[in-house]
Amino acid sequence: MSLRIEYTSAPLGHKIHGVDLANLSDAEFKAIEDAWNTYGVVVVTGQTLTPEQQLAFSRRFGGLEKFVIDAYNLPGNPEIFVVSNIIENGKPIGMADAGRMWHSDMCFMPEPSRGAFLYALEVPMQNGEPLGDTLFASTAAAYDGLPDSVKARITGLRAVNSFSARSAAAAAQAEADPGNIDSATLAHLKAQRDKAKVEVPDVDHPLVRTHPITGRKSLYASELITSEVVGMPLEEGRALLKSLIDHIIQPQYVYRHRWKLGDLVMWDNCSSMHQAIGDYQLPLRRHMHRTTIRGTRPV
Ligand code: OGA
Ligand code: MN
Repeated sequence: MSLRIEYTSAPLGHKIHGVDLANLSDAEFKAIEDAWNTYGVVVVTGQTLTPEQQLAFSRRFGGLEKFVIDAYNLPGNPEIFVVSNIIENGKPIGMADAGRMWHSDMCFMPEPSRGAFLYALEVPMQNGEPLGDTLFASTAAAYDGLPDSVKARITGLRAVNSFSARSAAAAAQAEADPGNIDSATLAHLKAQRDKAKVEVPDVDHPLVRTHPITGRKSLYASELITSEVVGMPLEEGRALLKSLIDHIIQPQYVYRHRWKLGDLVMWDNCSSMHQAIGDYQLPLRRHMHRTTIRGTRPV
C-alpha cells in the first residue's frame, strides 16, 4: 500500500497521499476510514473523480443526503451538491456561499449530516495563490482543552439550533454586502429566510456530544445557528455559546485548507466545524462537488 499520511501541526486536516479513490484496496479504505474517524478532517490529494466515482466512494460511509434545493444538485446525479460561484446561461450552477460562518452542517435538523466530502474541480487563483480557503476547527480537541470547571458547567446542557435565525442572518448579511453576491443568490437567501420561519422548527442538541463511532466527546455549537442554551436566561446562554465558539476557533484547534485541484476534503460534523472564506469573485471561478453522508441524532 503506497498510502502515506502527511500530518499538519493542527489536530485535524492531515493529508492522505498515494491513493486513487476510484480504485481502493480494502486496506486503503480502512486506513482512510480510520483517519477520518480519528481526526475529523482529512484531505485526500491528487484525485481525478467522475461524479459516479465520488458517489461510489461516499456510499461506503453510509446513506447519502440530497440537498433540499434541487437547483444546486448535479443534473443526473442529484446526490452531488454543487458548490460554485459559476453562472451559466444566467443561472448559478451551484451554491456560491455554502457557509461563511463557523458551522457544523445541518445542526438545525433533528438528525444532522454525519459529514461531507468536497472535491475541488476548479480553484480560484490569483498571482499563483489559491483563494477561497476553508477553515476547519477540531471541536473534539477544543473540548479536551477546556478547564475542568467549564466541562462541569456544560455537562448535560442542551442548546437550541435555529435555521430561521441563521437564514435571517444570512439574508441580512447578503443585503448589507450585495456587491459580493449575485442577485439570484440574494433572492434565494430572502426566500429561504421566509420559508425557514414557517417550515424548519428549531431543535435542541447536547452542547457536548459523543462521537457515534469513537465515543470521543466534542463541543457542538455553531455560530449564528446555535441561538440559545435551554433553561438559561437568553443573554447568559448567548455569552456561554460565544465563549465556547471563541474557544474552539483558537489557532491551536484550527487547520486552514488551501485548496489544490483534485483535493477531496472529508469532514466529520460530529467532531469538527468549518467556515468558508469568501475572498474571491468572478471571473475567478470556484467549482466543487459535495457528497453528504447521512447522520444520526446527536447524543
Ligand atoms: C459546505 C461548506 C465550505 C466551502 O459545503 O457545507 O461549508 O469552503 N463548504 O465551500
Ligand atoms: Mn458547511
